Amino acid sequence: MRETAPHVARLRLGPGDPSDGVKSVRNVKLTVLDGRVLLYLGSMVLPPNPFQPAPGATPPALVGRDAEVIAIEDALDRATRGSQPTPMAFVGLRGLGKTVLLHRIAQDSMRTALHLAVEAEPGVSLVSSFREAMHLLRERDKPLKKRLGDAFDVALRHLPLPSFELPGSMGSVSLQAPESGSKLEDNPLGQALMTFNRAAHEVNKFLVITVDEVQDADVASLRTVVARVNQSAGTKEPILFACAGLPQSRDILRALRTYTTRWDIFDLEFLTRAECVEAIRKPLTAVGITIEDRAVDLLVQESAGYPFFVQKYASAAWNKHRDSTITLRDAEATVPGVRKLLEKTLYGSAFAGLTAREVAVALAVAELGPGAHALGNVAKSLGTTSDALGSIRSNLIKKDVLFVPSSGMLQFRMPLADRYVLEHRDDLETKDVIAFRHGIARPKGGGGITL
Ligand SMILES: Nc1ncnc2c1ncn2[C@@H]1O[C@H](COP(=O)(O)OP(=O)(O)OP(=O)(O)O)[C@@H](O)[C@H]1O
Ligand SMILES: [Mg+2]
Repeated sequence: MRETAPHVARLRLGPGDPSDGVKSVRNVKLTVLDGRVLLYLGSMVLPPNPFQPAPGATPPALVGRDAEVIAIEDALDRATRGSQPTPMAFVGLRGLGKTVLLHRIAQDSMRTALHLAVEAEPGVSLVSSFREAMHLLRERDKPLKKRLGDAFDVALRHLPLPSFELPGSMGSVSLQAPESGSKLEDNPLGQALMTFNRAAHEVNKFLVITVDEVQDADVASLRTVVARVNQSAGTKEPILFACAGLPQSRDILRALRTYTTRWDIFDLEFLTRAECVEAIRKPLTAVGITIEDRAVDLLVQESAGYPFFVQKYASAAWNKHRDSTITLRDAEATVPGVRKLLEKTLYGSAFAGLTAREVAVALAVAELGPGAHALGNVAKSLGTTSDALGSIRSNLIKKDVLFVPSSGMLQFRMPLADRYVLEHRDDLETKDVIAFRHGIARPKGGGGITL
């Protein structure tokens, strides 16, 4: 049904009555719809905000990830048929949608699979994370068939128990499962996964293992997991494996290259302009809300292709609108506040703690544009050498401003940090920063300066 609304009468009645994600409209609307006059009296209930600005939250439209979604569907299809799925890895900066893809696997396999969802943590053995995941699964899937319940018990018995901190400074007690040989079959984690996988197939399901934040996984345990997955390939009980992590995860994947060379490894990129437009318009169309072209333009421009920003800005504009259209005024009214909040949380604290020389190097990296840059090019743009920048580079890495995506390269850790730096150049480029850059470019007496 197409809405033709040549005459809309608006009356202001008073404050709306927002409740539990449902928003009321303060206007009374007289609309001509297919020749009929419709009168909306009192509050017109709008659907809840469709945008999802929370970490890992499935976006209302998963745009720009067709290749990844096809790979997921193929893997699930194969696992369902007892054929080996290709393991997958999703690699990218913060907020590009890695966890969302792992959740997609979880959602699409909810009925057909048992899912061990693990999130690696720095300094925590992957074995304890698997143990916790098994406990969670047991709690969630109660009541389990008897056979599966037994398998949980056997699998958990294989895994070392966590350690317990003793009060005061008495140290900790660690309860370990008996150590066995180094063969995969004898390895506690390998055994636990084998037991679990067999049990899953006995109840006509398959096993899905996902490891998020894989850059923080201990390589030894991860090797056991992928070896187990690899071994399942030759059987009728294949395991579907997927992991996700920051660009540094590539180091871990490289360390496991015996297994990972034939994986599907996806580098998640920023969204194109057209994809951002789709990410905003599609969910609105689905719930019958329109958005002015100039409002979309503004939200797309602010988001700059960064999926997390798309959700954040679109969500704020939605919360502001009071009718069946999101207007440019709604977008304009919300953008500055969202931008300020995002800048503070994402970049503010990291940049506030930098010394003048660190800011100078950060500025030089930003001036080279988005993405990764060779340290040599950064040094060249400052009129110095890579060696001379060594300690500043290390500090910026320690302070979580930059990271090394591959040998000899440097990149901002947070997406769009280059835009932040250039937009805040006036605040960041203090006299000391200018003096420092000037000093490098023209060292006194030609003797070079100490950085
Ligand atoms: N393809 C997409 N289209 C639109 N929005 C997306 C897309 N992918 C992710 N998002 C949104 O981006 C935000 C971040 O997603 P997610 O938490 O999966 O990122 P991430 O890469 O796992 O981040 P982190 O490295 O911090 O864990 C969420 O709000 C999510 O809804
Ligand atoms: Mg994530």
